[in-house]
Amino acid sequence: MASNIRIVAFLLSVFSLGGEGARQNNSTQLISPGSSLSPISTHHPSSWPSPSGNFAFGFYEKGAGFAIGIWLEGTDKQTIVWTANRDDLPVTSNAMLRLTSDGKLVLSDREQQKNLTVSTGTNSPTDSAASSASMLDSGDFVLYNKTRDVIWESFNHPTDTLLGGQILPVGGSLFSSLSENDRSTGRFHLDMQADGNLVLYSANSENSSADSYWSSGTFVQPKLQLYLNATGRLVLINSTSWEESKVLYDDESSKTNYDGTIYRATIDVDGNFRLYSHEYDKSTGKFQPSVTLWQALADPCDVKGFCGLNSYYTLYDYQPNCLCLPGTDYADFDQRTLGCLRNYTKVECNDGKENISSYQMSTMENMVLEDIAYYEAQMPTVKECSRSCLEDCNCGAAEFDSGSNLCAKQNLPLRYVRRDPKESITAVFKIGNITAKI
Ligand SMILES: *[C@@H]1O[C@H](CO)[C@@H](O)[C@H](O)[C@H]1NC(C)=O
Ligand SMILES: *[C@@H]1O[C@H](CO)[C@@H](O)[C@H](O)[C@H]1NC(C)=O
Ligand SMILES: *[C@@H]1O[C@H](CO)[C@@H](O)[C@H](O)[C@H]1NC(C)=O
Ligand SMILES: *[C@@H]1O[C@H](CO)[C@@H](O)[C@H](O)[C@H]1NC(C)=O
Ligand SMILES: *[C@@H]1O[C@H](CO)[C@@H](O)[C@H](O)[C@H]1NC(C)=O
Ligand SMILES: *[C@@H]1O[C@H](CO)[C@@H](O)[C@H](O)[C@H]1NC(C)=O
Ligand SMILES: *[C@@H]1O[C@H](CO)[C@@H](O)[C@H](O)[C@H]1NC(C)=O
Ligand SMILES: *[C@@H]1O[C@H](CO)[C@@H](O)[C@H](O)[C@H]1NC(C)=O
Ligand SMILES: *[C@@H]1O[C@H](CO)[C@@H](O)[C@H](O)[C@H]1NC(C)=O
Ligand SMILES: *[C@@H]1O[C@H](CO)[C@@H](O)[C@H](O)[C@H]1NC(C)=O
Repeated sequence: MASNIRIVAFLLSVFSLGGEGARQNNSTQLISPGSSLSPISTHHPSSWPSPSGNFAFGFYEKGAGFAIGIWLEGTDKQTIVWTANRDDLPVTSNAMLRLTSDGKLVLSDREQQKNLTVSTGTNSPTDSAASSASMLDSGDFVLYNKTRDVIWESFNHPTDTLLGGQILPVGGSLFSSLSENDRSTGRFHLDMQADGNLVLYSANSENSSADSYWSSGTFVQPKLQLYLNATGRLVLINSTSWEESKVLYDDESSKTNYDGTIYRATIDVDGNFRLYSHEYDKSTGKFQPSVTLWQALADPCDVKGFCGLNSYYTLYDYQPNCLCLPGTDYADFDQRTLGCLRNYTKVECNDGKENISSYQMSTMENMVLEDIAYYEAQMPTVKECSRSCLEDCNCGAAEFDSGSNLCAKQNLPLRYVRRDPKESITAVFKIGNITAKI
């Protein structure tokens, strides 16, 4: 009964939000034990808003079910800035999230009969009990202990986004989301390395220099962290002295007066790292569509690993497209970024010699193979380069630069291949004539 009263009181406070007056009120609203959220129930709210109403923590739709996260309210397109246990399957509409009386944030889904905690990592709320929680106006969701010290905060567990006031510490990473509608771990990550360099990598890679496609170039200074301040200044700072080492973006115009604009830095689904602003429109009480202030890569085609193994990146009507390399077919025709599979059967290599009667070479112009070659040598023409690949059991493809006459051979599977009309590079691909049995 007592908890019902609390919920009613809570609902009243939720309904009193909205409008200009409420936006100004930045006092902390405490969520007390016994409070709960449900995706669709009329008896429970589905989210806990921040005092200003700018951010909310709660259930949002994911596929046929729901996920738990934090989003920016009042944007036309839902802007999710954080997701709990992002790789878990969506929960059902019967799910319930509770701040329990023993100080735990428990997600229960009756149909699946299992509890999920929102936190992951070492600073989990299971370390000590939470006495209250709060969705702050900064976009940070926090759990407090009895003495009102923060014992867990979403800002310490970023997914793909940093908000104003948030830090990516030394050793921290942001992982892109799989798609706009699925915030599960995607195909790219941004690492704040211990050597001071901030680097973008293709996921599921070795994190080697061959797998990186952008870096801040600050490797000379150790112990740097990435910081986005509340007025859109994106900087690499000394983690002990907070001295600025490199300014990635500085919004000169908004330095003087804070106007309610929300800034966020996100590693996007396409692998680019971008800084956005969401300007607040007083007349409509909504945020205007986001504006891109800065991006790590000017050319999205420079992202490595946008297309999966054995496929290549090309622009089609200005849209990125992944096409299969010769001798391969899509692993999944409906998900073309997943890469392609060989559609011929390999013939055994005999005494280190390729059975050349079972293979042929296919030539394509303006193709760049960006992975590291296992063999490089100068050759007079593309014909010799092609022959050299055909006879070499290790060779899957080779690229020939007609400017330098350099022939560079690569093994299968092929990664980081793109078509670029500006590059006068010819690539040759070895394909077998024996059709694979399906
Ligand atoms: C703002 O917060 C104060 C202090 O918590 C409270 O008294 C007041 O009612 C709030 N105003 C609105 C509009 O919510
Ligand atoms: C409200 O915002 C003002 C200005 O940003 C700040 O000085 C004050 O500490 C905030 N109050 C609370 C309760 O957060
Ligand atoms: C779920 O959590 C509650 C409260 O912590 C506990 O009483 C219950 O046994 C848990 N249920 C399962 C299936 O783990
Ligand atoms: C609350 O957390 C702070 C910081 O971790 C700690 O120093 C304090 O002892 C905790 N208080 C209680 C009552 O657990
Ligand atoms: C690459 O870096 C990411 C993020 O730091 C990490 O999760 C992953 O395990 C690393 N992969 C390898 C092979 O080291
Ligand atoms: C952001 O950085 C600028 C430049 O250092 C500074 O003038 C401004 O006060 C900072 N804003 C916040 C909210 O920290
Ligand atoms: C970072 O700040 C600390 C403390 O001021 C200083 O000792 C250290 O040299 C600084 N590191 C760099 C790389 O500037
Ligand atoms: C193998 O893939 C290539 C390139 O997509 C295609 O042209 C060829 O017809 C395929 N072969 C078979 C047997 O499916
Ligand atoms: C090369 O492959 C073909 C087809 O599998 C086979 O008939 C032939 O014996 C092979 N030649 C050698 C030298 O292994
Ligand atoms: C493979 O294709 C080449 C070129 O078309 C042809 O000369 C050769 O006889 C074929 N070999 C087999 C085993 O089919």
